[in-house]
Order: sequence, then structure tokens, then C-alpha cells
Amino acid sequence: MTMQAASTEIMSRTAAIIDEMKGLEGPLLPILHSIQEEFGHVPKDALPVLADGLNLSRAEVHGVVSFYHDFRAHPAGRHVLKLCQAEACQSMGSEAVAAKVKQLLGIDFHETTRDGSVTLEPVYCLGLCACSPSAMLDGEVIGRLDDEKIEEIVAEVRS
Ligand code: FES
Repeated sequence: MTMQAASTEIMSRTAAIIDEMKGLEGPLLPILHSIQEEFGHVPKDALPVLADGLNLSRAEVHGVVSFYHDFRAHPAGRHVLKLCQAEACQSMGSEAVAAKVKQLLGIDFHETTRDGSVTLEPVYCLGLCACSPSAMLDGEVIGRLDDEKIEEIVAEVRS
């Protein structure tokens, strides 16, 4: 698909989602979730359509998208690795875990490796505090992260 066609497709699907959901109370968040479900991220081309469709300014829409960490501005990698950065995990060294993972992958939170293999995201409590520091890889939780587990995870997402 050409870029022009892709962007037309994004705009028309976004308009259809808005039509379906704009009757909801506080429709912006559910609409953004639907858009992310459809495209895997919230594409830039969807933002002006949202602003027009919901009578908001583009700055307001942009503000909401960037405020909620759930929304991605770019397509995710083949794997999504979330590292818990909430309190219980922090007290068990999650910051050091994050620093190590970032260094091994060469990316920061909210980034995807250049080869598209993995997207790294922070998450705030996975309900696994008893086994902190914890992470989630492609929807599966992993507890008690230590150097060995971190290296295994990085090798897995890279393979
Ligand atoms: S704080 Fe990390 S799992 Fe609860």
C-alpha cells in the first residue's frame, strides 16, 4: 500500500470508529483504545480526524495520547517487554533492572529496537509484587528478575 493510501485508510477507519462510538460518555479514551486495537498503535493521521470528529483541539487530543502510557505513537515491535516500575518492584531494584535492559537492548522506555524485534515499556504493578522485580513479556508475567533472567529475556526477544 502506498503511504497516501495507508493514510487515507487510517483516516476513514478512524472516522468510522468515531461514528460508532461518539455517543458514549467521555468517548475519547474508548475511541483511542479501539484505534490502537485496530492499528496496533495510534497513528499520527488519526489525530486530526479525532479532533474534528469530537470537537476538540489537536493539542487536546495529542495531550491525552501522550499522557496515557497505554497508547503508542508507533507500531510495536514483534515482542513487547514491560518492566514494572511501581513501588514494590522499585524497592527490589527495578530501576537497576531497567537500566540493564535498556543498555542491553540499546533503547529507552517507549522505544522499539531498530530491527523491530522488541518494544520496551514501563508498567505500574503487575500484581506480582511478592515476586518483584517483575516484568511482562508478550502478556506473560515473569517474576524475580535477576541478571540471568534478564539475559535470557533479551536473548529470547532478539532471536
Ligand atoms: S509493584 Fe511491581 S508487580 Fe506490583
